[in-house]
Amino acid sequence: MSRLKIGVLGSGSGSNMQSIVDEIEAGRLDAEVRVVLADVPDAKILDRAKRHGIPCQYLDCAPWKTKLEGPAEDRCIEILRDAGVDTVVLAGFMRIVKPGLLAAFPNRVLNIHPALLPAFPGVHSWTQALDYGCKVAGVTVHFVDGGTDTGPIIVQKAVPVLEDDTPETLHARIQVEEHKAFPEALALLAAGRLSVEGRRVRIDPAGTV
Ligand code: GRF
Repeated sequence: MSRLKIGVLGSGSGSNMQSIVDEIEAGRLDAEVRVVLADVPDAKILDRAKRHGIPCQYLDCAPWKTKLEGPAEDRCIEILRDAGVDTVVLAGFMRIVKPGLLAAFPNRVLNIHPALLPAFPGVHSWTQALDYGCKVAGVTVHFVDGGTDTGPIIVQKAVPVLEDDTPETLHARIQVEEHKAFPEALALLAAGRLSVEGRRVRIDPAGTV
């Protein structure tokens, strides 16, 4: 068991970060959010962090539009290390992270993806699932490896696709499960119950790993 020291990277509303903070504040997750970084200056995730007294700042990732690389990656690692972070949470961070960050926090970078991976990696996964005609959609929390949405899976939750769903209604249903899945995965990590064997994440039922 070890209290997680989390650094959150996000780009948008921050509802997943909120769900993690809520679990911590309710005493159900042995963790603290040390710092929140956003690559969008006015991202709502920064307002949420401020409301909870969590240090936060804008991370300028120029000149890259879709990845975290070069000086911005170096700066990101420096901020996370200075904050004493041991676990990096990608909570709606709309950039591909590169080997530098992964090497700085080996096996400690987690992402949430709004689909049942390996189906529908990339963006707007819920729309992809709807257009494909899926009857079930969902969410995946996984460790991040060098690929896009390819790392070992920790938690998945499924939701039904309903006849009258729009992309918005389906995404909203998925988000309800996201807000359970991320805290659940982090609680398993905090309890020392996760071990990675190749692609498979083993969850120790007794919490003795
Ligand atoms: C979520 O749907 C997450 O799965 C995806 O981006 C969205 C972020 O939402 N990666 P929020 O900023 O946590 O509200």
